[in-house]
Amino acid sequence: MSNILRRGRLQLETDEEMKQYTSSMLADKWIFEADIFIDLAHTLMLENQKIIKKDDCKKILAGLLKIKEEGMEKLDFDYEDIHISLEARLIELTGEDSGGRMHSGRSRNDEVATCIRFALRDELIDLMYEMIELQKSLIKLSKENTETVMPGFTHLQHAQPTTFAHHVLAHSNCLERDILRLIDAYERVNINPLGSAAFASTGFPLDRDMTTKLLGFSKPMENSKDAVSSRDFLIETASVLANISINLSKMSEEIVIWSSQEFDFIELDDKYASTSSIMPQKKNPDTAELMRGKTGDVVGSLVALLTICKGLPMSYNRDLQEANPKIQTALKTTRASVRIMTKMTDTLKVKKERMFEQSNKGFTTATELADTLVRKTDIPFRTAHQIIGILTKENREPNLKILDEISKETSGFKLSERGLKEEDIKIALDPVENVAKRKIIGGPAPDTIKAEIKNKQKRMEKIKSKVEDLDKNVQKSLDNLICLVNQKINEE
Ligand code: ARG
Repeated sequence: MSNILRRGRLQLETDEEMKQYTSSMLADKWIFEADIFIDLAHTLMLENQKIIKKDDCKKILAGLLKIKEEGMEKLDFDYEDIHISLEARLIELTGEDSGGRMHSGRSRNDEVATCIRFALRDELIDLMYEMIELQKSLIKLSKENTETVMPGFTHLQHAQPTTFAHHVLAHSNCLERDILRLIDAYERVNINPLGSAAFASTGFPLDRDMTTKLLGFSKPMENSKDAVSSRDFLIETASVLANISINLSKMSEEIVIWSSQEFDFIELDDKYASTSSIMPQKKNPDTAELMRGKTGDVVGSLVALLTICKGLPMSYNRDLQEANPKIQTALKTTRASVRIMTKMTDTLKVKKERMFEQSNKGFTTATELADTLVRKTDIPFRTAHQIIGILTKENREPNLKILDEISKETSGFKLSERGLKEEDIKIALDPVENVAKRKIIGGPAPDTIKAEIKNKQKRMEKIKSKVEDLDKNVQKSLDNLICLVNQKINEE
């Protein structure tokens, strides 16, 4: 048997269906590059620790660089995973006497755990940058709409006047917390399991700090059993991705309903709309609908990950192989959604006049009117709430005469006798005044929102430079690794 994995212990080759059922080769495309970097670092360390000879080390390193150049397609897809297939190709290139030494002190268990962390941190950094771009787009949209008065909703019923900037910032603050969650998750992703071997580490004197530094991880993972078998970092990441997707789905839902004739608050750029094959007048917000739908993929991946990991005995179990495609799906879908949402919000047409027209429909100023009664006449809020409630129920004009009538009936006094004026009522019913009055921290008043935007921009600068630092740290380590590899290959 020529299969370098099975030729010792096993006598029979598996059949085609079995191969496909058990192989991770297709999903392993995601970790092809990672695996090469990890092999390079491990090999340099083996030589440094005098576990392999310099000549073998040089051959292995050169072979690995050649495999990197050839690309994944050159590998034998008949193998059960990338690690063994890559090793087989290496042995083909260098001969077993050299290439066969690379896997000393290592197992595919610590190898794959390291590969996943390596590939994942790259994706996380890219996603953080993409999220920052989306923040930029939302900040721009807010800045343009600090005076755009619109109805705010609770229970999807007209509730109180607000501004579009206030609304957009609410969404963007949700997504800002998601970036912080990504950074937090990154810390627990960027730890090095390499050197844990199958689960009990190894008797070879590996230098785990060396591979950690070469690969740009923050520290070696302690406890080799935990290192090979834990996938909590995948569950944690997927849960952040699910949260991002849910936030995007909420935005998508609003894009869909707000583009309807009933709302008519916004219009999507043609690029992100579709039409009907039969109804020629239609402009449908398909992109937003699909984004809402694709959330299912991400939430599904999280649930799959939780289920795969549930009830596994310590330590490595092959079930874990099934986790890898799930995180890939979640990443791919979430990252695409973030990029597309940025494009949609960048080009969104906001119908400011229509929003303003609707801003006082459904008696959205009722709360302010009740508050005005409290402030001007010193009645308890609950009494004012009843008076305005009755006014609304009876569908009567909100003027001084009628309010006096209702208050006389319910409470035995006239509001005008306690100081309420027609002018106070007029001001309370003005949606622009409503918004202007809400100027405490968190409120929609234009100056408050402008200050919030400034704070947010400052926070985003900090977040961006943190992400750039994470990115640079990894890049620096990997550049150095490649440099050391080339030096070693060229040494006498
Ligand atoms: N393809 C495997 C995975 O993704 C690699 C580890 C295989 N280890 C083993 N003991 N069979 O988990």
